[in-house]
Amino acid sequence: MCGIIGILGKKNNVVPNVLEGLRLLEYRGYDSAGIAVLDDQGRISRLRSSGKLTALEGRLRETPLSGRAAIGHTRWATHGAATEANAHPHMTERAAMVHNGIIENYQELKAGLEAQGHVFESQTDSEVAVRLVSQGLSEGKSPEEATREALLRLEGAFALVFLFAGEPDLLIGARRGSPLAIGYGPTGACLGSDALAVGPLSDRISYLDDDDWVVVRGGEAVIRNRAGDRVGRPVKRLDPSLRFNLGKSGYQHYMQKEIFEQPQVTGDTLKTLLEPSGGRLTLPEDLPFRVSDAERLNVVACGTSFYAAMVGKYWIEALARLPVDVDVASEFRYRDPVLAPKGVSVFISQSGETADTLAALRYCRERGQKTLGIVNVKDSSIDRESDGSLLTMAGPEFGVASTKSFTAQLTLLAALAINIASERGLLATGEEARLIRLLLEVPAMMAEILSRSEEIALVSRDILAGSRDALFLGRGPGYPLALEGALKLKEITYIHAEGYAAGEIKHGPIALVDKDVPVVVLAPTDALFPKIASNLEEVRAREGRIVFVGDQKGLEKVGKGLAAGLVIPPVDPFVVPLIYAIPVQLLAYHTAVFKGTDADQPRNLAKSVTVE
Ligand code: G6P
Repeated sequence: MCGIIGILGKKNNVVPNVLEGLRLLEYRGYDSAGIAVLDDQGRISRLRSSGKLTALEGRLRETPLSGRAAIGHTRWATHGAATEANAHPHMTERAAMVHNGIIENYQELKAGLEAQGHVFESQTDSEVAVRLVSQGLSEGKSPEEATREALLRLEGAFALVFLFAGEPDLLIGARRGSPLAIGYGPTGACLGSDALAVGPLSDRISYLDDDDWVVVRGGEAVIRNRAGDRVGRPVKRLDPSLRFNLGKSGYQHYMQKEIFEQPQVTGDTLKTLLEPSGGRLTLPEDLPFRVSDAERLNVVACGTSFYAAMVGKYWIEALARLPVDVDVASEFRYRDPVLAPKGVSVFISQSGETADTLAALRYCRERGQKTLGIVNVKDSSIDRESDGSLLTMAGPEFGVASTKSFTAQLTLLAALAINIASERGLLATGEEARLIRLLLEVPAMMAEILSRSEEIALVSRDILAGSRDALFLGRGPGYPLALEGALKLKEITYIHAEGYAAGEIKHGPIALVDKDVPVVVLAPTDALFPKIASNLEEVRAREGRIVFVGDQKGLEKVGKGLAAGLVIPPVDPFVVPLIYAIPVQLLAYHTAVFKGTDADQPRNLAKSVTVE
């Protein structure tokens, strides 16, 4: 979702730095981009373009811009189509501004500004912010005063950065709801949506809290709170690994690279909870409560992270006999949930910034729940605001469709289930060690399946790429995996796909099945195999094109007449979700490649969804 960068250069032209920052923010998903620069005369010039950054770069080649102060933006459209006129920065003669979030009272503010003579140039909610500030400037207020007063009038969520005409050494940023970071480095301070954006110019980072605003001038950043009092926010060293390994390392797409990183990510994530002896999984010592003491767990997440939560429910209930409720974050706080008095609420989010998940976390904290984040981005809002966090070691994930973060989340959830079960005394002697061994074997098994990626590509080419609809079926923890398989396919190939609990197909989706509809059946040989084999027969009887994903023994049992059989090594039921995630992701990825759709940045989607 929208990405922001603002840079002041001491002597240098910062336009290339702003473009680099925007490039690093591309992963968030966007549909237009723009840049505003202060020229040597102190005037603001701007270039914007709908579409990808390459289009903006083309415009910049035709009309080069340069200057020592600039702001840039990648926009994911909410209010107003993805046109050049709606792209940020928005500006007046006095100021330019970039915004991430939604200004909820923009219509009322707009009417007031129009009455004062302002003529709006876009359909966005954002433009009111720069016009409010400009109005203050035209009344003789300083940039600081004008911005502070404007901020007090805005309702909704925002991260904002302003650039002022005639002020080559000034940027003002503000945050409520949407993230904004300050990067500190040898050339001074800069502002950006995340650590990646400020990374190239910074070795330290701090994050604004809600209602903070920051004035960057003379190489320094002065942060104030809503009341205008100067405040300090923790400054941390920027993780140097952020600067490495950001390329595609020879892979065609980030998504492909990230799928192939999963053996390593799974191992690294598991290690964070594994005692040196290798025989026990323990939660971080600084966690201020014992999850195993909870009477009930709520797990709240969005998208792929929600499907990880669903798998977690199967594991935790089965092993630890602890009741688990899972909710999509956008529904959770509006349904007036019943929260257990000694409950623990868990928030799963790759980015740690998803607006609905963050709002659900705040909702639970206000109601006295103990909160645990499972996040991939350290120091993200969910990490900072939770009582404690477990970190997935996935590293930066650029593909909009989540892959390695999903299996890293699963790894932590599996470990959490074992830990709770063990602390509750529910694991027979040797069982904890057996389950840990199974998890330790996962990376090698993932690697084996990855080595057969080309075989899976043939199924994508011959069966999925030409279809309009597809179904994914699973049972037990294979059910959320079927949902995830369908999500991956529809996200990046635009094929209509639905995931179903296999036992439910008779209650509706079987009506869709005919000889043109691929049905991917996730059928590991576990206790539910005979059931899913019957469901497979029901599909076969309607001539559905079955793609069987299971082991050799299962394949032999279901016999002939399949459109394709993807044979997976036999695995213990406990680790099925981790292993079967790989073929499901590869099927979607290769289908996107054959269809020619953009696997990394699918249309209309954002990586980090920072608005409700
Ligand atoms: C977006 C992304 C998904 C992701 C979801 C939740 O929709 O495209 O890949 O699963 O957000 O994001 P989170 O960062 O909270 O895991």
